[in-house]
Amino acid sequence: MPRTTTTLAIATLAALATAPAAFAGGPSGQDLYKANCKTCHAAGSPHGEYTPMTLIQDQWERFFKEKYAAKHATATMPDGTKVLDAITPEMLEKIKKFSIDHAADSEQPMTCGK
Ligand code: HEC
Repeated sequence: MPRTTTTLAIATLAALATAPAAFAGGPSGQDLYKANCKTCHAAGSPHGEYTPMTLIQDQWERFFKEKYAAKHATATMPDGTKVLDAITPEMLEKIKKFSIDHAADSEQPMTCGK
């Protein structure tokens, strides 16, 4: 049935061609942070408010390396999925990069003068 195959191939190509360009790279680290971290760390959250600006780069590095898994071991998303399952390593890598790229400059900002 070569005719059917050809039709299918054309349909597939058409679908691929119209797929949004953003699909290739997936959501950004910022989108992922908003969707997966802000749910539990927005202003007034009982788990503490965290934005990239809350910590300096070193603290984010240490957090992802040493604390993230332990601190979130029992946390579950609103739909009941464990945080550690819901956020894949690929997603976490993007969130980590976003957090570090937008971290505060230093823990105690230097003041001019004095
Ligand atoms: C389902 C809720 C939930 C989600 C989603 C979540 N967290 Fe948390 N987070 C917690 C809880 C609970 C704690 C522990 C708070 C405590 O120790 O009192 C915590 C602690 C933290 C801390 C503090 C760690 C410390 O030093 O004590 C940071 C920073 C943090 N989360 C960042 C994130 C980031 C970044 C994400 C997204 C990748 C995220 N969280 C996703 C619930 C969540």
